[in-house]
Amino acid sequence: MKITKAVIPAAGLGTRVLPVSKSMPKEMLPIVDKPAIQYIVEEAVHSGITDILIITNRGKGLIEDHFDRAPELEAHLAKGGDEKKAALNSIVEISRLANIYFVRQKETRGLGHAVNCARSFIGDEPFAVLYGDDVIIGKDPACGQLIRAYEEFGKGVLGVNQVSPEVIGRYSSLKVEPIRDRLFRCTDMVEKPSPDKVFSYYSILGRCVLPPEIFDILDRTPPGSGGEIQLTDAMRVLAQTVGMTAVEFTGKRYDMGNKLGILQATVEVALEHPEVGEGFRKYIKDIAGTL
Ligand code: UTP
Repeated sequence: MKITKAVIPAAGLGTRVLPVSKSMPKEMLPIVDKPAIQYIVEEAVHSGITDILIITNRGKGLIEDHFDRAPELEAHLAKGGDEKKAALNSIVEISRLANIYFVRQKETRGLGHAVNCARSFIGDEPFAVLYGDDVIIGKDPACGQLIRAYEEFGKGVLGVNQVSPEVIGRYSSLKVEPIRDRLFRCTDMVEKPSPDKVFSYYSILGRCVLPPEIFDILDRTPPGSGGEIQLTDAMRVLAQTVGMTAVEFTGKRYDMGNKLGILQATVEVALEHPEVGEGFRKYIKDIAGTL
């Protein structure tokens, strides 16, 4: 079955990036001139997704506004010269990227609970999940790489990369066996492992493709690490029973849920940016010389 639906959980409290996330959704933090969540929606669209459900929460209304039309701003830009017209096109395009829907997660009970809010939107089909604070930039969209693995193996798919032993305890750890280049069978996993529970340094980083059976599993999943309903705990059931596929995706991932990740994304995207790249490169070289 062709995968056309995606879910973007964006209802977290963003406590690692306070104070900016007190009243501003962290998903709206800019990487140069676009909010993080726009990069994620564009990745989904470039992967063949046509319908996207964004899971929000109180105080996340800015996300809805960003994907809506902006009649007053558009009318103002339409009266301007070529530069203003280009800006007009870029903002109208945002509202046409995909069919975007919103639902609120009424209580912040974890990523698994957030994904379970998508049940009636998804119905009985496989779907992609793109975490709202993980931006992945690359020529071949990461979500599309996972969708291809789903089409080939017919099992849920995890987007993975290796993380260092120092940080594995903050991520998940997967039990994997290689299939071929960048593809693995996954038969078990653990969220935020203690050192004696680490299977490997392959960790789920922000993307997965799930079969609709995940919803019944989520209904039965008790709170896990941090007292939250963990998506990893539900996916573990899939991995242990029918198995899952892991894809070591290509592309650079930026963790927009922590301050260093935000800075790294800004610097690297700015260096390649057609408008400011050259000036920024000079600035970085000058400032690096003073360090
Ligand atoms: P994170 O754990 O990285 O987000 O969840 P968080 O809870 O905002 O982070 P901190 O620790 O407080 O800084 C990964 C993704 O799942 C979403 C988040 O918005 C993020 O995109 N999420 C998390 C939800 O939608 N609902 C939740 O209850 C928890």
